[in-house]
Amino acid sequence: MMLFRPAYISTSLLASDKREREHIADILLTSRRNNEEAEVTGALLATNHSFAQVLEGERATVQSTFDRIANDPRHAGIVPMLM
Ligand SMILES: Cc1cc2nc3c(=O)[nH]c(=O)nc-3n(C[C@H](O)[C@H](O)[C@H](O)COP(=O)(O)O)c2cc1C
Repeated sequence: MMLFRPAYISTSLLASDKREREHIADILLTSRRNNEEAEVTGALLATNHSFAQVLEGERATVQSTFDRIANDPRHAGIVPMLM
C-alpha cells in the first residue's frame, strides 16, 4: 500500500468558545471512531489558537478524511504541508 501522509496547520475558531474543551473532546471522539474504521492514523495537536495534524493511510481514504476536515467550521485558514 502506498502511504499518503498529508499534514496541515490551521487556526482554531474555538478559542473564544466557552465549550472549547467539549468541542475538542467531540473532535477526538469522532476522529478515533472514523479513523480506526478507515484505517487512517494520525496525530492532532491543539493549542489555544491553532491545530496541527498529520494523517497517514491509503490515499483515497486519507483524501476523503482530509476533505471533511478542511470543510469543518471549527477551524479556518488551513495551510497544507507535505501534500
Ligand atoms: C482540527 C480538526 C481535526 C479533525 N480530525 C479528524 C480526523 O482525523 N478524522 C475524522 O474523521 N474527523 C476529523 N475531524 C472532524 C471532521 O471535520 C468531521 O466533523 C467528521 O469527520 C464528521 O464525521 P461524522 O460524519 O462521523 O460525524 C476533525 C475536525 C477538526 C476541526
